[in-house]
Amino acid sequence: MKIIESIEKLRAEIRNWRENRQTVALVPTMGNLHAGHLQLVEQAKTLADRVVVSIFVNPLQFGVNEDFDKYPRTLQQDAEKLEFLQTDLIFYPQVAELYPRGMTHLTKVIVPNYLKETLCGRSRPGHFDGVTTVVNILFQLVQPDKALFGLKDFQQFLVIQRMVADLHIPVEIIGVPTVREIDGLAMSSRNQYLTPEQRQRAPLLFQTLQTTQQQILQGQTDVRALCAQAIAQLQQHDFKVDYFAIRRQHDLAAITPMDKSLIILVAAWLDTTRLIDNLACQL
Ligand code: PAJ
Repeated sequence: MKIIESIEKLRAEIRNWRENRQTVALVPTMGNLHAGHLQLVEQAKTLADRVVVSIFVNPLQFGVNEDFDKYPRTLQQDAEKLEFLQTDLIFYPQVAELYPRGMTHLTKVIVPNYLKETLCGRSRPGHFDGVTTVVNILFQLVQPDKALFGLKDFQQFLVIQRMVADLHIPVEIIGVPTVREIDGLAMSSRNQYLTPEQRQRAPLLFQTLQTTQQQILQGQTDVRALCAQAIAQLQQHDFKVDYFAIRRQHDLAAITPMDKSLIILVAAWLDTTRLIDNLACQL
């Protein structure tokens, strides 16, 4: 397994594979890898001859008061895990490698408002433009046949799908189901910010999604009441709820009686840690 920091070397390596007619899958990450990330890598291995994992904590997608500085950087442990899975290449660029002219006047990929002014995008202005901008750069550099993203970040998944369609980028986007802890908590690098007591409360997020899913499947249709009930339940356990929403799966719009593919999404704070999760609901 190679760990490559420079664009030039990355391109040379991939050119070499391409000359041998090998297919390439890309798994973009910010590192601090857990079993969720590794699931993406394992799936990638079944889909292409070569797997590239990028590790880059992208400053462009963090707000000024967010956790960019304290985001865990654990290259050594990440490399061991990826080596074990026989990953071909880790692309580990420095900020100056990807953004050599700085970030102030960078050419960016702008996400359409309907996707970025709701849910996570509403409380994290600029976040999704930062994600699409870096993922587009990674796509330009690696030119993968396939790229894998977790459905845990469902809005991100839709944003990337839309970018690839709109910009005619020839890459197949594959969504991988959320990997969870035994108690249901979605795996996330941010879980380690939780105190033991918060960690015990955290699975309520997924339990609340499941309760709402059951209520919908049992025929309850009052979205406002369902969301209010879920929010009250979370608040009782000292979650600060950013949003709890039931939306149409393909575009996150408000649901109409015609819609059959729904998604329930939640973001909530436990003290200073923001957790997100979602659950699909098929009528
Ligand atoms: P990061 O949070 O490191 O996540 C990398 C990938 O792992 C994303 O596609 C995310 O959805 C997926 N993932 C995280 N937790 C998961 C879980 N429990 N189960 C399944 N998949 C999971 O998302 C990002 O990085 C960045 O925004 C990035 C796309 C790399 C752009 O900077």
